[in-house]
Amino acid sequence: MSTTRKKVSVIGAGNVGATAVYYIAEKNIADIVMVDVVPGMPQGKAADFMHAAPSRNYHVTIAGSNDFEAITDSDVVVMTAGMARKPGMDRMDLLKINVNIAKQAADAIQQYAPNAVVIAVSNPLDVIAMVCLRETGFALKRVIGMAGILDSTRFQYFIAEALGVLPWDVSAMVLGGHGDSMVPLPRYTSVGGFALTELMESDRIEELVNRTRTGGAEIVGHLKTGSAYYAPAASTAKMVEAVVKDEKRLVAASAYLRGQYGHRDIFLGVPVLLGANGVERIYELDLSEEEQRALDDSAEQVRQGVVTLEEIYSPG
Ligand code: NAI
Ligand code: 2OP
Repeated sequence: MSTTRKKVSVIGAGNVGATAVYYIAEKNIADIVMVDVVPGMPQGKAADFMHAAPSRNYHVTIAGSNDFEAITDSDVVVMTAGMARKPGMDRMDLLKINVNIAKQAADAIQQYAPNAVVIAVSNPLDVIAMVCLRETGFALKRVIGMAGILDSTRFQYFIAEALGVLPWDVSAMVLGGHGDSMVPLPRYTSVGGFALTELMESDRIEELVNRTRTGGAEIVGHLKTGSAYYAPAASTAKMVEAVVKDEKRLVAASAYLRGQYGHRDIFLGVPVLLGANGVERIYELDLSEEEQRALDDSAEQVRQGVVTLEEIYSPG
């Protein structure tokens, strides 16, 4: 076995975590460790994954543990631990439960994987990313939230389905917080090089924009016992691959802003360059007044989550 392979740890071996492991293994991206609090569960899933290696042609190793020490010296840590929403729940409803889980995970990352790039996934995403940043004390660029790729791929898929074209011929951009106020940008969306606005009527585009905003809730409505995981895991694996292979991918992700788009000291979905160092650059698109207003509204929702976070940090 090669000793030069990178190490990726996934904290939370539930639906999103385990599915991300599957996608990462299938592309032989890195050796993987899964950590979860449920006794035996990550070990069992890891062994099961390894038994599939001869059939699926992956040669990376996958190990499971209930001990955070197993993440030692990871290059990338993915944080998916925490509760997923159920029908009637907003992502923000998860904050009080997930903040303590995120704190515990972030403390372990700081202790055992001090050089890692952290990809936060748990909800409410933009606030949990903030918890990961604060608790690890890492450089801003080394903590990233996964949401923009997922929201963009949902938008891409809805457009492809409506136009009858291949989903990967659509390139889309969705900014803002990972909530119902997210900001799909039809002006920055194209199909095989054509502007979307030239291919589709504006009211149809608006329908797909709204469906994108509620894409997560649509899946919760079907599943009833949890939320989406195949598409979220695929987006997570894409980010992991970009960092592990230093791909320099230009994608939407939640990044800590210091004045970009008129916002500071919050995580918000923006176009970033993803590479070995994490967020290597934040791009500022030229937004119309309406797009900027929508982004400001979305940022305000994230800010309210951060206010709740402060109350949790300093009760009373
Ligand atoms: P799940 O319930 O299937 O898995 C969560 C796992 O976390 C469970 O196995 C649980 O035992 C584990 N866990 C709980 N506390 C832990 C701790 N302290 N340390 C380690 N593991 C711990 O949930 P699922 O569907 O995998 O979702 C995970 C999170 O990701 C949820 O918060 C969900 O809302 C979020 N999510 C975010 C998305 C995004 O776009 N950012 C998309 C989909 C889900
Ligand atoms: C999603 O967008 C629940 O955040 C999760 O599917």
